[in-house]
Amino acid sequence: MMTSAEIRQQFLDFFASKGHVIVPSAPIVVKNDPTLLFTNAGMNQFKDYFLGNKQAPNPRIADTQKCLRVSGKHNDLEEVGVDTYHHTMFEMLGNWSFGDYFKQEAIGWSWELLTKVFGIPEDRLYVTVFEGDLKEHIPKDEEAFSEWKKWIAEDRILMGNKKDNFWEMGDTGPCGPCTEIHVDCRPDGERAAKDGKTLVNNDHPQVIEIWNNVFIQFSRMKDGSLQPLPAKHVDTGMGLERLVRVLQGKSSNYDTDVFSGTIEATESITGKEYGYSDSRADIAFRVIADHIRAIAFTIADGQLPSNTGAGYVIRRILRRAVRYYYSYLGYKQPLLFQLMPVLAGQFEKVFPELHQQLDFVTKVVKEEEDAFLRTLDKGLRKMDDIISAAGKSTNSTVNGSAAFELYDTYGFPLDLTRLIARENNLEVDEAAFENEMQQQKDRSRAATAVDTEDWIVLDSSSLMEFVGYDTLEIDTKVMKYRKVKAKGKESFQLVLAATPFYAESGGQVGDTGTLSFDGEEVKVLDTKKENDLIIHFVEKLPKNITASVLARVNRERREKTEAHHSATHLLHAALRTVLGPHVAQKGSLVNDEQLRFDFSHFAKLTDYEINSIENLVNQKIRENIAVYIEEMPKETAIEKGAMALFGEKYSDIVRVVMMDKSYSIELCGGTHVAATGELGYFKLKHESAVAAGVRRIEAISGAAAAEWLKDQLDQLQEIKELLRHPKELPRSIENMLAENAQLRKKLEQLENRALVGVRNELLQKKIIIGDINFIGELVDVGSADALKKLCYDLKNNLENYIAVLCANIGGKPFVAIGIADELVTSRLLDAGKLIREIVAPLIKGGGGGQKNLATAGGQEAGNLQKVIENIKVRLEA
Ligand code: SER
Repeated sequence: MMTSAEIRQQFLDFFASKGHVIVPSAPIVVKNDPTLLFTNAGMNQFKDYFLGNKQAPNPRIADTQKCLRVSGKHNDLEEVGVDTYHHTMFEMLGNWSFGDYFKQEAIGWSWELLTKVFGIPEDRLYVTVFEGDLKEHIPKDEEAFSEWKKWIAEDRILMGNKKDNFWEMGDTGPCGPCTEIHVDCRPDGERAAKDGKTLVNNDHPQVIEIWNNVFIQFSRMKDGSLQPLPAKHVDTGMGLERLVRVLQGKSSNYDTDVFSGTIEATESITGKEYGYSDSRADIAFRVIADHIRAIAFTIADGQLPSNTGAGYVIRRILRRAVRYYYSYLGYKQPLLFQLMPVLAGQFEKVFPELHQQLDFVTKVVKEEEDAFLRTLDKGLRKMDDIISAAGKSTNSTVNGSAAFELYDTYGFPLDLTRLIARENNLEVDEAAFENEMQQQKDRSRAATAVDTEDWIVLDSSSLMEFVGYDTLEIDTKVMKYRKVKAKGKESFQLVLAATPFYAESGGQVGDTGTLSFDGEEVKVLDTKKENDLIIHFVEKLPKNITASVLARVNRERREKTEAHHSATHLLHAALRTVLGPHVAQKGSLVNDEQLRFDFSHFAKLTDYEINSIENLVNQKIRENIAVYIEEMPKETAIEKGAMALFGEKYSDIVRVVMMDKSYSIELCGGTHVAATGELGYFKLKHESAVAAGVRRIEAISGAAAAEWLKDQLDQLQEIKELLRHPKELPRSIENMLAENAQLRKKLEQLENRALVGVRNELLQKKIIIGDINFIGELVDVGSADALKKLCYDLKNNLENYIAVLCANIGGKPFVAIGIADELVTSRLLDAGKLIREIVAPLIKGGGGGQKNLATAGGQEAGNLQKVIENIKVRLEA
């Protein structure tokens, strides 16, 4: 039996023999494409080649791509684990033609590979072909039909509608008719009894689609129309996990060697056995084996779990896995992180990024599991409260908002709440839950809705060029523009023929500046990339958009930014020198104000380490190293020791930035100073933790550091002047602080003595209310603390006392209420409650404390007399 690794290799070898160049998988997390969070198909990384925005380096490419289908148009999350053939992360084997071969070769080769190389019996295969769509004005795919007829009996070619046989990447983008290959894996008896044809596309677990060949011919526009593309392309995708299952003769993807390693490891950790059934426990085994891959590879590609965007999707997947082992395998400690070594070992040769970062990924996963298990515990306690409240009121329903709170705050999905509720003979008001859910969705949709119109193309002739490495000003023209509406506001985006504006990437912010059209100036507020397109965000459209444009970057902001970018490289190298080579970049933000650098490291930096890092960077600045930038093949750069980032997609030719080849050499598309001396000075301002195993450094350099230094020196000067230029500033401040402490002590002693007098006066003023000795007075003291002390003192000198002592200290009201312990018990009095209910509103402030002593401070000192009166009234009542 072939292993999954051999099957993957055979696919790649087959297409290499047909003239395809084999490329690595793109990262699973997508950057620079607002329509996608994750790679959901092998073709994503080639989108620009299909749309004609960029020339493909090779007309034929094949690879295996890490894909994730858990958000957006393609979302299989809820199926995963319940059935045996859907996954969150899966490997998509694919072959592509960019304007090269078309249906004849694609269909012929897929047949050859499946039947001749892999030896799948022909009588187990069916294919589907697009039947056409009247509304879209697309005819039946006759060409695919006649190509298939060369290989397969006509009655095995089934016609399919737009839902099954017209593939689209998302709501917009490249698309086209497709032909799918399905395989019938049922035993012969069953096959004889029921024609496999009737089971194609019918969710039968043994009659499944394994390969999709898409013929990309259109781009779906925002208005729903289809625009024909200038060239025709092939995009195919075959799920490796399903193929392996067919070739290994298994009835479930989870029984193949792709998953058996992690399932066995889960068995030995939990002491439970995987039973190949539909039981909740077996679903849990499958959920874990599946989800662990999505979680591990996404984190390895640089995406940490978080509360927004792609990070939130990962957090949800991880929580789904935790819930399953917690609820159905009875395992109450972190489990997923223990599977990491098995997984990393299994994929070491194909996706080495996990193995290379094993410690880091393990740590992040464990921390995230720990945190969620704590939340689950809290949620379970909350559920206990709900159950006991329901028991007391003989109410038999968990209301919708409680179920929603459990879901939203504690991560309980409805099925878990339902399960626990049923065990306690309760029902969940599911309609109300759905209602709350819908409301939340509507709220977040309204908050984030962005309506982007299609491009209006003025000129489609030349490809856009970035000239901003060499110049900050250029005469150019607008190629296309579009309108964007977000939060009720309208804005515009432009693409220029050539541009000096750097688009946000690699952590460096996008340039700002101006575009001058016939003397009309339009501000560029930001510049971003969409795939490879450089998009200028402008405040308004010019009157004459077809006029020639002078594009000018804000020079000062760019120069300050590039100083921070170069400083980031010096810092990165210094971190690796001082802390060790395990340091890997996990995020970076470079702008004109500062640099922020996140990196993997497991401990807080010591003062000594911080000093050493700062010193090393400053030494490299003083060496005034020329910054040397060169384009070269990626392999050469890596051989030279260039640092590449995990989760970053690099092309074959990369830009390499060197600052002394033996010190810092990085793959980088950003802009830099000419020599490190330009940075002047580097100051590390802050070091902190961002997540498990990730530290953050914030620092400044260049003009920003000079400004910061000047500001510090000015402050120092001011202090010196205030202290009349002492010889030794620190000593002089030390002395002042010591003197201050002494004086404070003396003052306290004097005040305490004075307080004895005040107490004696207060004792004279007591009035009797029933069995209470009441003292309510405005007293003249210097601190709120003195009021408290007086209360204590009265307590020791007067039985059954209640004191309401007020003071106006520098225009601010303060109140202390002391109540004898006997009264607290016998009369159920509560000083804290009196403060909250009577005092706080009157003095426009707040406070609190114990039942026998509480204090408050506020803004309204005019009402202190009223405070005393009102409390008296309450006591008399
Ligand atoms: N893009 C198609 C799919 O994802 C074929 O690769 O199914």
